[in-house]
Amino acid sequence: MIPLTLAQIAEITGGELRGDPAAVVTGEVVIDSRRAGPGGLFAAVAGEHADGHDFASAAVAAGAVAVLATRPVPVPSVLVGDVPAALAALAKFAIDALPAVAIAGITGSSGKTTTKDVAAQLVERLGPTIAPAGSFNNEFGHPLTVLRADAATRYLVLELSARGPGHIAYLCRVAPPRYGVVLNVGHAHAGEFGGLDQVARAKGELVEALPADGAAILNADDPRVLAMAARTAARVVTFGVDDRNAQIRSAEIRAADVRLDDLGRPSFTLLTPEGQAGVTLRLHGAHNVPDAVAAAALARELGLGLADIADGLCAAVARSRWRMEVRHREDGVAVINDAYNANPESVRAALQALRHLAQDGRGFAILGHMAELGDTSRASHEDIGEFAAQSELAGLIAVGEEAVPILAGARRVRSWTGEALAVPDGTAALDALANQLKPGDVVLVKASRAAHLEGVAAELLISNGGATRPPVPPGEGAAR
Ligand SMILES: Nc1ncnc2c1ncn2[C@@H]1O[C@H](COP(=O)(O)OP(=O)(O)O)[C@@H](O)[C@H]1O
Ligand SMILES: [Mg+2]
Repeated sequence: MIPLTLAQIAEITGGELRGDPAAVVTGEVVIDSRRAGPGGLFAAVAGEHADGHDFASAAVAAGAVAVLATRPVPVPSVLVGDVPAALAALAKFAIDALPAVAIAGITGSSGKTTTKDVAAQLVERLGPTIAPAGSFNNEFGHPLTVLRADAATRYLVLELSARGPGHIAYLCRVAPPRYGVVLNVGHAHAGEFGGLDQVARAKGELVEALPADGAAILNADDPRVLAMAARTAARVVTFGVDDRNAQIRSAEIRAADVRLDDLGRPSFTLLTPEGQAGVTLRLHGAHNVPDAVAAAALARELGLGLADIADGLCAAVARSRWRMEVRHREDGVAVINDAYNANPESVRAALQALRHLAQDGRGFAILGHMAELGDTSRASHEDIGEFAAQSELAGLIAVGEEAVPILAGARRVRSWTGEALAVPDGTAALDALANQLKPGDVVLVKASRAAHLEGVAAELLISNGGATRPPVPPGEGAAR
């Protein structure tokens, strides 16, 4: 955070100052009062379960200099009409004051957080880098991340999400990116957008925001993404994954010869104009390959050399929780916790990884519903069920009413001999699997965020006297 006086904060936000104009905010800006600390600014927002204004005094007691609020609070404050707009104004001011910071934005329907986390681990090799934790990618998390930058910062690696047209353009106005990565156009939130072409329109707002001396890093394997080349003033750089069958060799930065080990971790040859290098990821599932290659293409644009890129990709770990976390119980049962979120593309990717991991045992999937798919929701769930059955699962458990169509889809596969079961909640899913699992079996747990199935994965790991109970992380926001 660059130091700002309360007087400056009031001026930048157009707010009403209620406190000492000369008091200086030097610490982090937060919206979670429990994270408020010395020198910081606490932005009070009304959430689903609590109203931040009720915690204004607690935040100041914890050291916050003042509170950004929409109604009077009994502590030093700046009263504004709209907190996200005020945060955006502050972030814009702060980042404009730091012209040496190179800003990169990453968007797409699936893989933003993974790509952001991998890219950050590469870019950190070049200099001080700020990247959000988890999915801080909306009108709250985005400005909060930008505000963490200070005079020492050289790179901002941001995740940009859209739930409608104009959202990404807005985030790009807050922190104008010079580099933009577009991963894919898929069905996440497609219901809200009205279809894939509308999703593409919205995701492409990122490349429209790039300057002529910037770079648009586009997935050559996704026609809707590649078509965004026509919508940018920036230089276009393409990335992709060579398809062994189709012999496609088009992208400038690409992965070839992708193989998976027993745990589904990909190895590949990274091909760049500067040469090639071998890479083995620590991430599970082939779908991480395009994400890793996109991260590599971004780091390369920022000046990282091929050896460092390859080394960094091999070292990169999943920094955000519940995305394809593979853990083993003492009895040899593996649990894949991919409960962070779900859309048709990511469920398919997870089922493919499950099939791969379960080569020496049986595969079970506990699937909750995929939210926000609109008119295509029922058909999409059926298709996922069909795909799951084709993956030769031993068992498919649909959790919750909205997930039931998955089973109808599975039954379309006549040759499938696995068991299908609908249960009302996660506890019932655990009960259904209790005493069934044997060494070598693999269980995938996946659903939309709203279903909160991560607890099911955690329970599975400790049931049966299992070994590794993962630490319970602080809840991540619902934003994607
Ligand atoms: N390129 C990809 N294609 C399909 N699914 C993916 C891809 N990258 C990641 N996923 C899956 O999508 C889900 C969300 O991943 P994440 O990196 O959090 O993306 P986002 O931030 O876009 O929601 C996870 O289940 C992950 O395994
Ligand atoms: Mg995310």
